[in-house]
Amino acid sequence: MIGYGGDYYPEQWSEEVWAEDVRLMLEAGVNLVSLGVFAWSRIQSDEGEWDFAWLDRILDLLGEAGIGVNLATATASIPQWAVRRYPDIVPVTADGVPLGPGSRQHYSPTSPDYRRLAARLVERIGTRYAAHPAVRMWHVNNEYACHVHADYSDHAAVAFRAWLERRYGDVDTLNRTWGTTFWSQRYGSFDEIQPPRRAPYSLNPGGLLDFRRFTSDSILELYMMERDILRAAGATQPITTNFMGAFEPLDYWRWAQEVDVIADDSYPDPADPASFRAAAFTRDLMRSLKPGTPWILMEQAANAVNWRQANAFKAPGQMAALSDQALARGAGSIMFFQWRQSVRGSEKFHSAMLPHAGTATRTWSEVVEYGSSLRERDVDLPPAARVAIVVDWENWWALDQPDHPATIDYLAEIQAWYSALHAGHVFADIVRADHDLAGYDLVIAPALYLLTEAGAASLRSFVARGGTLVTTAFTDVVDEQDAFRPGGFAVQLREVFGGYPVDFEGLPADGDAASATRGIREEFVVTTGSEVTDPAVTSVLGGRAVLVRNPYGDGLSLHVTTLTDQAGAACVLDVALASAGVSAPIDGLPNAVEAVPTTDGVVLINQQPDAVTVQLPGRTTTLGGFAVERVSLGAADR
Ligand code: GAL
Repeated sequence: MIGYGGDYYPEQWSEEVWAEDVRLMLEAGVNLVSLGVFAWSRIQSDEGEWDFAWLDRILDLLGEAGIGVNLATATASIPQWAVRRYPDIVPVTADGVPLGPGSRQHYSPTSPDYRRLAARLVERIGTRYAAHPAVRMWHVNNEYACHVHADYSDHAAVAFRAWLERRYGDVDTLNRTWGTTFWSQRYGSFDEIQPPRRAPYSLNPGGLLDFRRFTSDSILELYMMERDILRAAGATQPITTNFMGAFEPLDYWRWAQEVDVIADDSYPDPADPASFRAAAFTRDLMRSLKPGTPWILMEQAANAVNWRQANAFKAPGQMAALSDQALARGAGSIMFFQWRQSVRGSEKFHSAMLPHAGTATRTWSEVVEYGSSLRERDVDLPPAARVAIVVDWENWWALDQPDHPATIDYLAEIQAWYSALHAGHVFADIVRADHDLAGYDLVIAPALYLLTEAGAASLRSFVARGGTLVTTAFTDVVDEQDAFRPGGFAVQLREVFGGYPVDFEGLPADGDAASATRGIREEFVVTTGSEVTDPAVTSVLGGRAVLVRNPYGDGLSLHVTTLTDQAGAACVLDVALASAGVSAPIDGLPNAVEAVPTTDGVVLINQQPDAVTVQLPGRTTTLGGFAVERVSLGAADR
């Protein structure tokens, strides 16, 4: 059964409204709601004051109606009394500004008071509801680090020092690793170390990188604390928290190991005609974070959101097309923020499954229609991909440091390659370089600047065993601490590349009109490889870069000596896909139609409002705007 529903905030409504909610939920096919996400102050009105009676009643009501509950631990927004009693519970910015109450997420993840109060709340909720028949799963906190990407408070300083001490053992090792002889940055003891607060000029790159690691780890520790309390209280249901797509502050590879099921919140901008490709990328990322386990689209908007400069409607059919995109790419539940549109508060203009204007609305009709379309369907995971793109959070953090030859937006580099594949209707997984790559024919690793020994060994053996590897400029430049390795650049991959860079030139981030190059260009020395002179590639790269093709073992390395936009990536991919023997499942599909493989064919989703004609093997068909069609293909066509 596919889960369908959304965030439900009964605490915003009188109890007469609850009965209508349940009736309309059943009409819409809702079978799962997230409950209590921001209910802390409603459950605990002061440190010793608890009220669970209302939560008992709504859980019973939902349970009797057969609607499952994804019960939240309510720790995402602390009550006002917690700030009054413990003023230093709030997070602090790099400029030393405390982030006060009155909004949400105003807690320091390392505050001992926050941890103690949150632990107590979770223990009470877990003990009371672990055996409640309506509870199907647990929703820990909400979108960790969404608004507060990092905390620079004194609590963070204490925890950061302890984290560094665990990592390095003694301060001399830290000094050596960070290179603190530079600018007289040497530390005499761990106590002298601060979070990277505002300073006159660039901070130490090793320290910045470790602070990113610490931030992701310390917030993950919070998640694990709540999860373990729920388990100790007797919870047997799956436990998770909601991710936010490719979200830089948290290393979701590490987080994925700790959640039972991946859940994601996704808000592609309906005004951006290319946003469905970025959405497809996050869906593939979510599937890849826990292969083989259907993930949950935990939040999306039924129609417009409220938080952009201008908040466009979803076009008729667009919500269904984006939901089907998630299902095709491995989701097992489709959920929304939120069930009923609020009448007060910051999000009253955010759409909901049940609009403020009621059931005589297009949004409601589409929600009901989509819910009913799910009744006959089941979760259907796509088959394994033959192509993979490397995404690595530590590399992201390292690339994001200042003082590079040019400013690099790692996500944009990834998306250029992903979008080129997607526009070419080639299905891909997302991996880390040190994963098992044996099942892939083509691996693409854009801007893999920080490359670990394990990652390099894995890429080398992937090519040696017959794979095709695509890399770009600024790959294999530094070690785990953002220091150059001895012996030059690309010391770990030079045999694979058939050469190595000796210097890097910064280019405008958006490139120039005359070529597909951008960001960084390498001065590259070819050793054993032969420099490709594919006229198509050379002309797209504007003569400013080359594609170095080098056979290595049974495979092939294709190294582009620049960063490139989607057009450049597409051109290189023509060469790479041919070498790997991978092609689109159906030739000549229009650009805005996405194709996702199924076990016996392909799902086609037209992600634009205009109808298109599609040539399938042996027949022609017309796909309406935002229409979806499942096509079976014989083995020979797949
Ligand atoms: C999410 C959040 C929800 C709601 C939604 C609005 O980031 O988890 O609580 O604010 O955005 O789009």
